[in-house]
Amino acid sequence: MKIFLDTANVASIEKYNELGVVDGITTNPTLLSKEKGNPIKTMKKIVEIMKGPVSLEVVAIDYDKMLEESLKLAKYGENVVVKIPMTMAGLKVVHSLTKKGIKTNVTLIFSANQALLAAKAGATYVSPFIGRLDDIGAEGLNLVSEIVQIFASYDISTQLLVASVRHPLHVIEAAKMGADVVTLPPDILDKMIRHPLTDKGLDSFLSDWKKLEKDNPDLAF
Ligand code: E4P
Repeated sequence: MKIFLDTANVASIEKYNELGVVDGITTNPTLLSKEKGNPIKTMKKIVEIMKGPVSLEVVAIDYDKMLEESLKLAKYGENVVVKIPMTMAGLKVVHSLTKKGIKTNVTLIFSANQALLAAKAGATYVSPFIGRLDDIGAEGLNLVSEIVQIFASYDISTQLLVASVRHPLHVIEAAKMGADVVTLPPDILDKMIRHPLTDKGLDSFLSDWKKLEKDNPDLAF
């Protein structure tokens, strides 16, 4: 399963990119609004830093303007994936971009029917927002399971990108279901790295080594 980072924070992207575990980035206007500086420059910088796919979102809602924005975003770099909202105009844009060989990520997916239609229109990725479904008392992971089943039944090549992830258990469950990608806020990646028993074990290894150093003053690797 691929792991994308769900952030527009350049420092975070640089930091986690060095770990070798991040395969791509997803951004959205809200994430960009949390960062200082010009959002266009930020998007271009992210595309430059990250070699893997970087989702950049359009903000127009009508077909012509959305297509125009998409074509501009696609020029920021070969790794750009244009993020398109799941609307009727959005599907039409996805269809047009697919014919031009431009990759797309259909965002704000809340039902299996939406995922199916986005895939039929040619989406490279579909992004079900599981945390936001959980927020309204629905089971977000059920949607992931439904999409996995449908895409497998028809050998659909669109990748299932699990979004709006709120905790590490979401990641484990999505991985068990066979999702292609999960996109994570950096703090969730941190939580996946850490474990209290790892910290405890490391503390005791280090304190035992200190004892050895006391008994062997010249100890060195
Ligand atoms: C994904 O592409 C979205 O940017 C993101 O996962 C939305 O998450 P949220 O529901 O926490 O805003």
